[in-house]
Amino acid sequence: GIEPSSHTGATGVHTTSRAAIPARHLRTDRWWLAPACTAAGLLAFIVYSTWRAFANADYYHAPYVSPFYSPCLAENCHTMRGGPNWEIFGSWWGLSPALLILIFPLGFRLTCYYYRKAYYRGFWASPPACAVAEPHKKYTGETRFPLILQNIHRYFFYFAVLVAGVLTYDTALTFRDEHYAWGHMGLGTLIFLANIVLIWAYTVSCHSCRHIVGGRLKHFSKHPVRYRLWGWVGKLNERHMLLAWSSLVSVAVADFYVFLLASGAFPDPRFF
Ligand code: FES
Repeated sequence: GIEPSSHTGATGVHTTSRAAIPARHLRTDRWWLAPACTAAGLLAFIVYSTWRAFANADYYHAPYVSPFYSPCLAENCHTMRGGPNWEIFGSWWGLSPALLILIFPLGFRLTCYYYRKAYYRGFWASPPACAVAEPHKKYTGETRFPLILQNIHRYFFYFAVLVAGVLTYDTALTFRDEHYAWGHMGLGTLIFLANIVLIWAYTVSCHSCRHIVGGRLKHFSKHPVRYRLWGWVGKLNERHMLLAWSSLVSVAVADFYVFLLASGAFPDPRFF
């Protein structure tokens, strides 16, 4: 039989209030598969994005600018018209301009409720899966430094909206050709369109967004507009994990496509 543990001073799954099961878990399925795939996928993205962020090259090919490098805030940017969007960082900034801007999407995704689950399970095994005890002795959740900083997610959401706005602008500019004439559409335009739809869907499906839109209301009947918006955001929110992954892939694909064009692998197929 399963008896309550008699350990005193024990924490986590070994506390007195928990059943004392000698086995680490009683699951018979391949419970490790999901966290292993998650870790592998995240690792692949980390390796790819680190390479591209530090590359400081091949991030622009008219009319496409890589989403990793937009907005370009340093003097050393080489984008549309040969310079930065806003020259906030002067010639003293010698590193890749991507490093100035990636901190915002990175912070947004790092503190995201879904990604937290993903890397707590995939990398820290805390816990690795449902009903599988974690290897760590103590569990303090997100109540202490540094994990208490996860609470700033809402502020990263505000920045994420700004970044999505900039990427929307970049996508609009892909309807111009290399001479800045409107009416262009290439394969890159379609890739940018798919990416910006997924970026917005991911951003809007954010749990913080859902709370900003419909939280703290006592009577939905008195706030019909917010109630309706909250319903829409809630529908997207159900798909948050899917959107987190698909927008992660799409942003990497958009960047890689620009890399291929800029490094001369092939010309952008043009529809009109
Ligand atoms: Fe995932 Fe906000 S909860 S982006």
